[in-house]
Amino acid sequence: MRKPLIAGNWKMHNNLAETIELLNGLKRELLDFDGVDILACPTYTVLSDAKDILLDSNIKLGAQDLYWEEKGAFTGEISAAMIKDVGCEFVIIGHSERRKYFQETNDSVNKKLNAALTQELTPIVCVGETLAEREEDKTTEVIKDQLAQGLKDVTAENILKLVIAYEPVWAIGTGKTATPQQAQQIHKFIRDWLKDTYDFDTAEQVRILYGGSVKPSNIKDLMKEPDVDGGLVGGASLEVVSFSEIVKGSI
Ligand code: 13P
Repeated sequence: MRKPLIAGNWKMHNNLAETIELLNGLKRELLDFDGVDILACPTYTVLSDAKDILLDSNIKLGAQDLYWEEKGAFTGEISAAMIKDVGCEFVIIGHSERRKYFQETNDSVNKKLNAALTQELTPIVCVGETLAEREEDKTTEVIKDQLAQGLKDVTAENILKLVIAYEPVWAIGTGKTATPQQAQQIHKFIRDWLKDTYDFDTAEQVRILYGGSVKPSNIKDLMKEPDVDGGLVGGASLEVVSFSEIVKGSI
């Protein structure tokens, strides 16, 4: 049985005061709510404060990216060990915005997730096609490449330690959600790929999140699909009410 995970990707939003307010609101709303893993991924600069606020709560902390080297002269970068040190349990890897604006490739995704695993962080590895790729009927081809290259040489033992997020690029921040059927079709494709690459039991244990305009109004239907195990939420995770409703609506 896969436990649902609802993760908020706060992207480059919220200063410290706004983060504190949002986290305290979520703590109040989601107090004692279990059955769902709840995750907040604020920006780097507030992680340390967020950790303190979340110490006595059921909300876990994650970062939005990392750099794969352990340490050294890499101005502006942040290592997996640093993210771990500040109290994160999760880290998002290969988000489409990183791929689009910061030249992230499947190869860098692979290096980053290995660095995360070395520090016992749970990587949330993002895959997803652009609108042009979907219109050219290349969705599964693109996803397969992202999985095969991004997860290259990841052992069966380690695949159980990560989460995959399917985020169709055309559904991110656009208000256009994939229909539950569209999401299920790709989630099943991902799980079938895991079955072929690893084995049935392993594939059945890996959580696959959907991301792209997840809202309180669509979470229930998305979660009814057998291979949708949660959500990676952008815009709607920035408000206490909508993020809490998504969490509560996921079970
Ligand atoms: P939105 O929920 O704003 O579409 O963003 C999705 C996303 O990119 C989460 O990582």
